[in-house]
Amino acid sequence: ISAKYFEKAQTVNDQAGLESLRLAFFGKNGDIKQLQKSLSTLAAELRPQFGQAINELRSKLESNFEELKVRLEAEAHRRQQASERIDITLPPHAEHLGSLHPISKTIMEMERIFIGLGYKIAEGPEIEWVKNNFDLLNIPEGHPSRELSDTYYLDDKICLRTQTSPVQIRVMQAQQPPIYIICPGKVYRPDTADATHSPLFHQIEGLVVDKGISMSNLVGTLKHLAKALFGENTEIRLRPHHFPFTEPSCEVDVTCWKCHGSGCPTCKNEGFVEVLGAGMVHPQVLRNCNIDPEVYSGFAFGIGAERVCMAHYDISDIRYFSENNLRFLEQFK
Ligand code: PHE
Repeated sequence: ISAKYFEKAQTVNDQAGLESLRLAFFGKNGDIKQLQKSLSTLAAELRPQFGQAINELRSKLESNFEELKVRLEAEAHRRQQASERIDITLPPHAEHLGSLHPISKTIMEMERIFIGLGYKIAEGPEIEWVKNNFDLLNIPEGHPSRELSDTYYLDDKICLRTQTSPVQIRVMQAQQPPIYIICPGKVYRPDTADATHSPLFHQIEGLVVDKGISMSNLVGTLKHLAKALFGENTEIRLRPHHFPFTEPSCEVDVTCWKCHGSGCPTCKNEGFVEVLGAGMVHPQVLRNCNIDPEVYSGFAFGIGAERVCMAHYDISDIRYFSENNLRFLEQFK
């Protein structure tokens, strides 16, 4: 039996072979069992001796069988490992990593500039009280910007904010000066989308309220912003304007980043491009928020993120920002 076992064991090289070897020798009808059964045919005095011999044979074959089993398992494992080998030193295939949206990049860039000046970032809701979006900003009933054609109303008290200026109101109501904040966010206006208009766009509002703030602080801040965004050679130009919540108010142009003053299609040969609205916070707006205009003064400005972003990256159509076309977005990795 021993010789027969070892001969057969030599040929075993997989799980199925191992199993048939086990059945042939250690199974219910296997050779060892047969031997044990044949004990009963022996004379009683011979049984202990033969019984012991059978036990020895069995444990010898069993321990060989165990070794064989372990070896086959190890081999199978090795084979599997070889077939599944992964080279962890190879660089990853990161072909479809996402990227920041260009508007997010632009907003972060502006946040960085103002954080450098000591400003804090404030945020407010996109669904806003009509009171915060208009009334407390000194925009009277009947003002054209309040018309149904210019504002998305949810009801007579609530609208989608048309500007980030209501965040000024929220911040001033919540704290006394000194206030140095910028408020980036989405704003909504019922506009038909074309290359330069979109019903949803982003503004970045700036607000400073402190003792002794004057127009020259505003001009200095805007100059710094223009140079940081569009380059050291950039100059700004203020044109008188009207906003109900600032007095005096101005629109601010920067020298064209493409031609730096000598005329080109981007600035329609003007040398300047309009980028933001600004002014000194109207005393009535301060009063509306329980800030004493005899003690404090401030300036505010609002800048369109899409404008800046389109200028920065030479993007010709505002609709690219919302189309989610990967060929567009992947350029900003
Ligand atoms: N809220 C104004 C707009 O949307 C921009 C602005 C902000 C002007 C702050 C002056 C001061 O046009």
